[in-house]
Amino acid sequence: MFITLHAPLDMHLHLRDEAMLETVAPLSAETFAGGLIMPNLVPPIETREALLAYKERILKASNEQNFTPYMTLFFKPTYTKEFLESIKDELTAIKLYPAGITTNSEGGLSGFDVEELRPTLTAMSELNIPLCIHGETNGFVMDREAEFASVYAMLATNFPKLKIIMEHITTQESVALLDKFDNLYATITLHHLLITLDDVAGGMLQPHLFCKPIAKRPEDREALLKVALGGHPKVMFGSDSAPHPQHAKEACGCAAGVFTAPIALQVLSELFMKHSTMQKLQAFVSDNAQKIYSNIKISPKLVTLEEKEFIVPHHYGEVIPMYAGEKLQYSIIDIK
Ligand code: DOR
Ligand code: ZN
Repeated sequence: MFITLHAPLDMHLHLRDEAMLETVAPLSAETFAGGLIMPNLVPPIETREALLAYKERILKASNEQNFTPYMTLFFKPTYTKEFLESIKDELTAIKLYPAGITTNSEGGLSGFDVEELRPTLTAMSELNIPLCIHGETNGFVMDREAEFASVYAMLATNFPKLKIIMEHITTQESVALLDKFDNLYATITLHHLLITLDDVAGGMLQPHLFCKPIAKRPEDREALLKVALGGHPKVMFGSDSAPHPQHAKEACGCAAGVFTAPIALQVLSELFMKHSTMQKLQAFVSDNAQKIYSNIKISPKLVTLEEKEFIVPHHYGEVIPMYAGEKLQYSIIDIK
């Protein structure tokens, strides 16, 4: 059984910088045609110069593997229309983090005052720049995303022409929002389709599965599976592959993030095959994103997988991937 994917896209990807970038960028660049690159570096990507320089470093680290980094800026309510106009052609989206909600987000937003946000969000709607959001409050960890639903609703209503992408959704409530507001879309990760909180903390604590938002209940995972496997047109794949060195994961104070980039297409193939929904995988890993992000250019790439055992490496440099050392059912056998 062969599966051929056309231009697979990872619409939520952390590539980091320096040595980590050198380790992880070639892995995504090999199997994906493009990825939406998160701006939460230290310091975050907030200027044209920083964005262009980071894009160059990514292209260099990707070893010219026909991979397009779709760049993002770290949202600031101080961005003016003139600034956004000047940078519009260099970026694909702007990523908003609530302050302190996850890795390197200290400079994020500390409140959602619609009037404070209005000038920047109005300019983004007029310039057709999508807004990607890490949607969590600082409430109880299992409720953070559900509590954020009112913020999504407020933004979607006040800025009806703004494309808002709910990043890495993990709950039934977020899935329900997709059909309530025309301008809300979502990414879903690989790990949130596979695990629940039980896999993270139900037995011995699994640091390599610890991430933000934390994995939720079985019924939440079911809701995510339903829209991903069903090829819901407002949902796209975004791995949120977030590498941290082994010492930062296996530590007192474990960094949040699951590293899935090198196993994503193999595991997605297995998952969609298991549910007999293989005909929807192309929509989930590429076609939906191409329609939602109407501003992206697609690098041609054909990735073929076969039902053939693949043993996940124990590590990639300093990073431990999800399913390290385990056997997967699908392997990538050709990339053109
Ligand atoms: O688990 C996560 N890791 N969630 C995020 O939102 C950020 C990411 C990271 O950058 O490490
Ligand atoms: Zn992320």
